[in-house]
Amino acid sequence: MNPVRVLTGITTSGTPHLGNYVGAIRPTVRASRLPGVESFYFLADYHALIKTSGDPARVQRSTLEIAATWLACGLDPEKVTFYRQSDIPEIPELTWMLTCVTGKGLLNRAHAYKAALDKNAAAGAEPDDGVTAGLFMYPVLMAADILMFNAHQVPVGRDQVQHLEMARDIASSFNHLYGEHFTLPEVVIEEQVATLPGLDGRKMSKSYDNTIPLFVPREQLKKLIMGIVTDSRAPGEPKSTEGSALYQLYQAFASAEETAALAKAYAEGIAWGEAKQLLFERLDREIAPLREVYDDLIQAPSRIEKTLKMGAAKARATATPFTQRLRHAVGLRPLDAQADRAGASAKAAKAALPVFKQYREKDGLFYFKLADAKGELLLQSQGFAAPREAAQAMARLQAEGKAALDALAPHLITPNDVERVTSALLQLRESAT
Ligand code: TRP
Repeated sequence: MNPVRVLTGITTSGTPHLGNYVGAIRPTVRASRLPGVESFYFLADYHALIKTSGDPARVQRSTLEIAATWLACGLDPEKVTFYRQSDIPEIPELTWMLTCVTGKGLLNRAHAYKAALDKNAAAGAEPDDGVTAGLFMYPVLMAADILMFNAHQVPVGRDQVQHLEMARDIASSFNHLYGEHFTLPEVVIEEQVATLPGLDGRKMSKSYDNTIPLFVPREQLKKLIMGIVTDSRAPGEPKSTEGSALYQLYQAFASAEETAALAKAYAEGIAWGEAKQLLFERLDREIAPLREVYDDLIQAPSRIEKTLKMGAAKARATATPFTQRLRHAVGLRPLDAQADRAGASAKAAKAALPVFKQYREKDGLFYFKLADAKGELLLQSQGFAAPREAAQAMARLQAEGKAALDALAPHLITPNDVERVTSALLQLRESAT
């Protein structure tokens, strides 16, 4: 089975805080170690320019901090592909190719853009006041990030779901015009991702200015923790764990037993100062060894630079040849290059081939079928729970032909004419090379 390709980007416009660590970094680093996945993580510094234009030092500093954080937290650059977006010149090139198949109307509907319009309307300003073309184009750049590596799965926060839908739309438009070059990516939302409360009890977020940076010096961490809001219950008075930011923070780091012990201490009236000291010690126990690595890395930016360059080389081993293929597909070709087989246009060549079609039925399941060039049905699948499973089965049929037909039999309706299916699969495979 081919590995599942997982890809995600981190915009380099801030300093990682405890909420990022618990909600994204720690689970992602763990997931990257699982067998059967191929992970791509990148620093989205082109995206950072959209938010930080006019502040070059911040982009550089944030890129350094975020790279050092991920490495210190255990991301293994040998196992995963860890790179910086702006080291891959193929990304902006693909962005342009995608821009030319993206409806302006699609981008008009992007939440972030619409929010800017609404804000201007409320303020009585011109609709596009202060809106850069970069903000408007954000979803296309993000689609290029994803489609370049044909990622199957993209883990993101809820706020990014629409961007993933757009990436799928853009990929479909391109595939329709130029052939099946792109995998349609699936969004993965970590439903049970812990959102941590910040210093004031609201969700920890840069926009509330209530964060605890992940790698502040020990003393400063202690000071910040002592400043977490609590109610006014005196020492000796029983305290409620419910709605207690301190308790939730503790829980995100401690084992079930440790957490139960703290709950007991709450009921027995532990003083807030004492509870904060416990939280500080528990946090620091997990963070201190990582902080040590982080501090070393921050002192040695050239080491990080080297790691990122290695990641870029790995990423470009895919991106460079794939971009060549895409350039050829859209017509950016050497003038003496053979247009297509027998000079036929890509569309005509494609039209003579059998096609896989994936679709969803009313039962909510995902199906595919294989039809010959005239549209006659050759093969029909059973229902799959996830689009990815259907896609993987199709890919396998195309790559392995008859062998996959047998192996996947439980997922298929037995075809009338196995011969014809087998030769159609072979024809598809040959046309792809
Ligand atoms: N837009 C994402 C965010 O703000 C960052 C990002 C850029 C990204 N390119 C991506 C995430 C590609 C996933 C895939 O969180």
